[in-house]
Amino acid sequence: MIKTKPTKPALKALMKQAQKAARHAYSPYSKFRVGAALELSSGEIVTGANVENASYGLTICAERAALGRAVSQFGPKIRIAAAAVTNLNGMPSPPCGACRQMLAEFAEPDAPVMFPAADGVRTMTMRELLPAGFEMKRSSARLGPSTRALT
Ligand code: THU
Repeated sequence: MIKTKPTKPALKALMKQAQKAARHAYSPYSKFRVGAALELSSGEIVTGANVENASYGLTICAERAALGRAVSQFGPKIRIAAAAVTNLNGMPSPPCGACRQMLAEFAEPDAPVMFPAADGVRTMTMRELLPAGFEMKRSSARLGPSTRALT
């Protein structure tokens, strides 16, 4: 597998792809159009848009739509090297908690995740966005010593 660390121009391009994907949002209820773009460590880019439903709670966020596509298209071994999320409403939109947990399963801990914040586009690493995510491992090196003692 080709390993690529996304460059600054690549991250800008990824954000552009997220913007493009947001145009495909199905969001008649919230009218909030979200797009996500994932850059895989293989260099492939996979996008997604939010898909709402009349039964509101069934809504799929753009990030999870993109992730589902990525695994379905490229298989369960994918790794996320970078992610971009945006919306066409000019609002801050960091990934929601559920999406952070889902992305963390496949993302490198130091993968940059870009999103619109109040003061412009913000980039945080996956680890910063979800410092103590759930993992099916007996002991996680990512947790502090007191937490580790409980496992
Ligand atoms: N939404 C996303 O697509 N991603 C997030 O991380 C948070 C929220 C969508 C879900 C819903 O369609 C709309 O934004 C309003 O919550």
